[in-house]
Amino acid sequence: MHFTTLVASVTALAMSVSAVPSPATPANTRYVQLRLYGEPGCSAQNLGELGVYGDYVNSCQSFGDNEVESVSFEYAINNCTVSVYTGDSCDAGAQAVALNTCLSGDEEFHSYEVFCSSL
Ligand SMILES: *[C@@H]1O[C@H](CO)[C@@H](O)[C@H](O)[C@H]1NC(C)=O
Repeated sequence: MHFTTLVASVTALAMSVSAVPSPATPANTRYVQLRLYGEPGCSAQNLGELGVYGDYVNSCQSFGDNEVESVSFEYAINNCTVSVYTGDSCDAGAQAVALNTCLSGDEEFHSYEVFCSSL
């Protein structure tokens, strides 16, 4: 019985140590949240949410193999803005996505960039 209590309290201590939050850094701060869809209109074919952290801000990112036909801009801090592109490396077909809106393309989007002036 005593042994069980000791094990339980040691376990609780270990958990509280590992639960100490690491300091906020750009790399672990979610600046923008997008949701991607495989059809226009931000409704059908939800491909999931895409959180953009500080180490992915202010540089071109690829949507990879996803066939992205609409993008919902769900959340931003620090007034960060989002552009999506039909080109593979933010080189063609730029369109800005406004916060709390859905942008549908005539063509698939292949890359995106989040701009945060404070980073
Ligand atoms: C965001 O924009 C608003 C309005 O322009 C401004 O007052 C605020 O300081 C900006 N916030 C940041 C973090 O840049």
